[in-house]
Amino acid sequence: MISEPVIMVNYKTYRESLGDRGMELTRAIERHCTKNWVVCPQAVDLRDVVKGTELPVFAQHVDGIEPGSHTGHTLPEAVVDAGAMGTLINHSENTLELWEIEKVVSLCKGMGLMTVVCANNPAASAAAAGMGPDFVAYEPPELIGGDISVSTAKPEVVKEAVERVKRVDANVKVLCGAGVKNGDDVKIALELGTVGVLLASGIVKSKNIEETIQDLERYL
Ligand code: G3P
Repeated sequence: MISEPVIMVNYKTYRESLGDRGMELTRAIERHCTKNWVVCPQAVDLRDVVKGTELPVFAQHVDGIEPGSHTGHTLPEAVVDAGAMGTLINHSENTLELWEIEKVVSLCKGMGLMTVVCANNPAASAAAAGMGPDFVAYEPPELIGGDISVSTAKPEVVKEAVERVKRVDANVKVLCGAGVKNGDDVKIALELGTVGVLLASGIVKSKNIEETIQDLERYL
């Protein structure tokens, strides 16, 4: 179980989060955070990061496959074997077909892997909720990697995403992400009904990780 509110950090494939630097980043988060954080390291670093931290670790992606001949895919079982507690699915930078998302969620459930299904609008968030994941993360692609946060730029849409998800399945928790950089962004996200945020560049590219973490946790 992941306690709330939660801050999830997607390392993506930034140079700053690769290999030893990814490990350093993880140690820095662990050292300075006082609330509930989850880290999503790069795929090749997953096992090392799990071994090197007490923080919950999620994968960034898995495919809807079972062991066998699937060259270059990410096997959910492999992510479990590496020690991950959960996985992101359908990030807008690595989308899946609807049927595949459904298959992945069901495979992950079967092996006790938590799921965060990303969705780019409220309708997609509702559809994702219908698959029964642990979390739906609403992320408008146009704000990803920018400096204006989803909670500031699209508060009404975040609220709508939360409402639509809850109408489908009240047990599914909602996160939002894109452009989240500071405590105000997190505070607004929570006021809009989410249980936390999913962010990347705000942490991975931070010049002062301690300050950034303190700021993000300011109202938690
Ligand atoms: O998965 C998180 C992400 O897409 C948001 O990225 O850099 O806008 O925090 P960023």
